[in-house]
Amino acid sequence: MCGIVGYIGREQAAPILLEGLSRLEYRGYDSAGVAVFDSQTEALAVHKAKGRLQVLSERLHGGADLDSTVGVGHTRWATHGAPSDANSHPQVSHSGKIAVVHNGIIENYAELKAFLMEQGVPFTSETDTEVVAQLIEYFYQGDLLQAVGRVLRRIQGAYALGILCADCPDQLVAVRKDSPLILGLGEDCTFIASDVTAILRHTRRVYYMEDGELAVLTREGIQCFNHLMQPIEKEVAAVDWEIDAAEKGGYEHFMFKEIMEQPEALRRCLSPRIRDGEIVLEDFPPDFLRDISRICIVACGSSYHVGMVGKYHLERLTRIPVETSLGSEFRYMDPIVDQHTLVIVISQSGETLDTMAALREARRLGGRILSIVNVVGSSIARESDQVLYTWAGPEIAVATTKAYTTQLALLSLLALKLARARGTLSDSEYHASLDAFQALPDKMEQILSRRDDIQYFASQYFNHNSIFFIGRNLDYALGLEGSLKLKEISYIHSEAYASGELKHGTISLIEDGTLVVALSTYEKLFAKAMSNVVEVKSRGASVLALTTERRREEMARIADAVMTIPDIHDLLLPCLGVVPLQLFAYYVALMRGCDIDKPRNLAKSVTVE
Ligand code: F6R
Repeated sequence: MCGIVGYIGREQAAPILLEGLSRLEYRGYDSAGVAVFDSQTEALAVHKAKGRLQVLSERLHGGADLDSTVGVGHTRWATHGAPSDANSHPQVSHSGKIAVVHNGIIENYAELKAFLMEQGVPFTSETDTEVVAQLIEYFYQGDLLQAVGRVLRRIQGAYALGILCADCPDQLVAVRKDSPLILGLGEDCTFIASDVTAILRHTRRVYYMEDGELAVLTREGIQCFNHLMQPIEKEVAAVDWEIDAAEKGGYEHFMFKEIMEQPEALRRCLSPRIRDGEIVLEDFPPDFLRDISRICIVACGSSYHVGMVGKYHLERLTRIPVETSLGSEFRYMDPIVDQHTLVIVISQSGETLDTMAALREARRLGGRILSIVNVVGSSIARESDQVLYTWAGPEIAVATTKAYTTQLALLSLLALKLARARGTLSDSEYHASLDAFQALPDKMEQILSRRDDIQYFASQYFNHNSIFFIGRNLDYALGLEGSLKLKEISYIHSEAYASGELKHGTISLIEDGTLVVALSTYEKLFAKAMSNVVEVKSRGASVLALTTERRREEMARIADAVMTIPDIHDLLLPCLGVVPLQLFAYYVALMRGCDIDKPRNLAKSVTVE
């Protein structure tokens, strides 16, 4: 949901800003812009273009045209005002003195705009952000930080802001509330960025800004302030992500690269946590996982699907009641949470606003918050009581893959750990499950090495307009993810159904040639899954099945085509089962000529409600 970058140093700013934006484009890609202080004219030079960053970059010859050592840049996912040059950021005050890049939403922008218009301030865009630029200029009397402080007392909503003023070209101002923003410390230069990938090339030393904090960046360093505008000291954090982890490394798409990286990501996630036949999670206080009477899982999108699988695993293994809720619904449903409730918050980015709001509601009600997060130092991680990091490395493609599988593996490991602690699992079952975790990455490699088979199935079915995924229990949760993956990147209409629900309405949509992807990896329910395949076949459906090696032959007798995964413990079936579905979605989208890494209307990090 919009990417922000800012640079102040001794090198030419524009190429650095454009390169940084190229790493943030996954956050929004309907327009882009930069504002720099032009040393020749001693004024701000602002360049914006609707469309992908490439349009802007080509127009500016990679930034070589702009003579400046300070600036801010933005890549946009439109909320207020359609994608257009005028609505792109940076938004500039009417005199051209103040330029602002913004990620988030200013909720009371309409009333502030009305006030400013009454004072005669002319507006040129439909954005909420322009109000911030105009308001800063309205209050500006020679001290930029003070003017920003006055604006912050009046605006409501979520914002990460990067601010440049033509009167003070030796500084940038950064502000953060409910939208991510980090600050980078380089040699004779400093940075603002929505996430670390934008500045990894230049520095690994960062400050994570807290809500309500401001910062003044100069070439010499960074001074941070709390919400009362008092100077504060912050700890420098070292980022350990490798720069090439955020690059395509020869692959055509980030999504494919990230699918292929999954075995390695799982090894990184699991190996340090399974030692000498025991599960060693992070250093939780001894009581943290004790006396739990209820578990709430909250998440959005694919992370929510992980939570759906988690519910099955946790209830079966621990016998604790579990409810999985959408982050966007949780705070509106008057949730039942108390100090004996473990609230598991799942998020790749750690910045999803709805998930964050659910976390805060759960905290307000007294729950114990444990998050499963990929991005170190992200807002959700920092606001949780305890964090389990997935260590999947940077995930750039909008459609999640390696974050999903590592979240799932980690949640399953947690279920096992809880069951062990509560004594609801026999020793032999516990050790058999742990062995399965250790075998998981190799088994996933086997699936990936046979990816040509899946490519072949994609070539048979990529022309369909509507595809149903069906399955029961674990396979239903898996179907939800398979269906989401397919629709979000290939734009094929797709639905996932609990197989037993089909005959309560949806089966009327099945006609000759309708493609049904029938999931039947869960051994316990295989016979039921077979009946559902027969049911849809007899109404004319083409069935592409996904099952385990041991059931291939049986399934092949009735399905039109069969994909398989190696046999593995139930706990890890969805983790393996999702891989052929990710590959299927990828190849279908490829054959339909879709923009796989940046599907239309989407952005990776959803920081608006
Ligand atoms: C789908 C996808 C999204 C995210 C969702 C939550 O491929 O990536 O559905 O899972 O937006 O994002 P996080 O996990 O960052 O909270």
